[in-house]
Amino acid sequence: MSLTVFEGGSDGGIELAKVNAILDRYTEWNANEALIPMLQEVQHEFGFVPSVVAAVISDRFSVPMEQIYGVSTFYSDFKVRRKAAHRILLCEGTACYVCGSQELARTVLKKLGIDYNEVTHDKQWTLERANFCFGACQLMPIVEIDHTIYGNVTPERLIELIEEVNKNPRHGGEH
Ligand code: FES
Repeated sequence: MSLTVFEGGSDGGIELAKVNAILDRYTEWNANEALIPMLQEVQHEFGFVPSVVAAVISDRFSVPMEQIYGVSTFYSDFKVRRKAAHRILLCEGTACYVCGSQELARTVLKKLGIDYNEVTHDKQWTLERANFCFGACQLMPIVEIDHTIYGNVTPERLIELIEEVNKNPRHGGEH
């Protein structure tokens, strides 16, 4: 069975220390029960489930690659390929939703021409929603760009942040 659905050969930039920090939290868990929450954390950290991480999970938890592949492709929340160089993640917890996340989504659409889960033609940007609260509602609305979290983000500030990344593409960029 081929497992090349994972982004083969393009796992550069995946920091093993970050992977291990996630997996270390599950060492006491039953492997089958740990698999989905582990993959959720991996997805949040890297924006997708890289093949190298799947291999590390398989090795450390004795879970067959076929099982990881099956879970990753069965649940639509998981992605097995890097979508774009940079990811804008909008918090859509209740507080952020009522205080501006939709306006920020419209700003991204206007600025980059992409809606949720779309990728710009040059594969530089993708926009995703976080269906969970970041735990920083006092700073709503919250936006995460390439793992950096920003609070009190106005449409103008979001445009500035996008332009800053465009000027310095080495910033972030692991999605
Ligand atoms: S709802 Fe966005 S940080 Fe709580």
